[in-house]
Amino acid sequence: MTYILGIETSCDETAAAVVIDGTTIASNIIASQIDLHAQYGGVFPEAASRAHVEAIGLVVEESMRDAGIDFNRVDAIAVTRGPGLVGSLLVGINYAKGLALASGKPLLGINHLEGHVYSLWLTQPYREVRFPVVVLLVSGGHTELLLMRDHGDYERLGGTLDDAAGEAFDKVGRMLGLPFPGGPNIERAAMHGNSAAYDFPRAMLRDDSYDFSFSGLKTAVMREATVSSGLRRGEKGMQVRSDISVNDVAASFQRAVISVLAEKTVRAANEHKATEILLAGGVSANQALRLAIRQSSELPVRYPPLNLCTDNGAMIAAAAYYRLQNGLKDDLFALDARPMWPLNNETYMG
Ligand code: KG4
Ligand code: ZN
Repeated sequence: MTYILGIETSCDETAAAVVIDGTTIASNIIASQIDLHAQYGGVFPEAASRAHVEAIGLVVEESMRDAGIDFNRVDAIAVTRGPGLVGSLLVGINYAKGLALASGKPLLGINHLEGHVYSLWLTQPYREVRFPVVVLLVSGGHTELLLMRDHGDYERLGGTLDDAAGEAFDKVGRMLGLPFPGGPNIERAAMHGNSAAYDFPRAMLRDDSYDFSFSGLKTAVMREATVSSGLRRGEKGMQVRSDISVNDVAASFQRAVISVLAEKTVRAANEHKATEILLAGGVSANQALRLAIRQSSELPVRYPPLNLCTDNGAMIAAAAYYRLQNGLKDDLFALDARPMWPLNNETYMG
């Protein structure tokens, strides 16, 4: 059995996990900074790095204790190399380097987006994934449609041209006066709203590309649902109109985002003769998105368990397993942070 310790600090969770053979979680510890960032209405990078520094030692220690293993039993250390906030990434990378240097164990720098993809290999009971599959990766920072032909083989079919899906949820949540993060709170509000109340734009729905755009939708919501408070210009000076139903706006906005995501994902799966559709990333926790894709495709739809949709160390360890099996590891001293690091077939080329 191969034990991999996975460390993730790319954004606002300090996380460490031990995964056996890329599929079985032995431990999965996540210290969330949501409460810290809620006061700013979004992730505050400087505060995030400081919180990672404070938490990382304890989180890694607890992941060992929870897994019931001694550090000597670990076969390799995996850490998120990017994309993400540079200060946050460096905390995890430097910690992982220290561990690798002291122990002589192999170190692997993992692409965070690939990590999200591999959260789909952590579903229990384990079920083999038969390639090719189409992956819709929707998080706070990314919206990517990928064709995966094998382990580590990613063709990027398209992605967002502006805001990521999760970012749109977060911004609209803030406009509507909902707590941070916007995604789960919009989903909750939407359950009590009428999704046909507003006809918000569905950008690029009918074009041939697999790209997305959510900034026009965000502006449409702002125009419909907010008034300038007259205090300051920009989003912070906006107030929710008193004569609208926040639940209706949330439901109509969510419907608009989901219908574009679902249609393009299903179209890509059909075009590329995928055997399955895989959903990953924070927004894949959204039940309405899961349902919409299930209803519009005959193919099996796979998504991570809820606690693995958002950032965690287990997905980083799972992704590392397949790289390790192919004999890949990183040079300890050359491993740097890559704040912008797309996921495609060139990702690990250098
Ligand atoms: O994957 P993730 O934890 O972090 C990034 O890598 O960005 O995703 C966080 C994002 C946030 O934008 C959050 O609002 C969104 O995922 N999210 C959701 C839901 N739960 C989290 N969006 C829609 N519906 C949800 N239930
Ligand atoms: Zn993420």
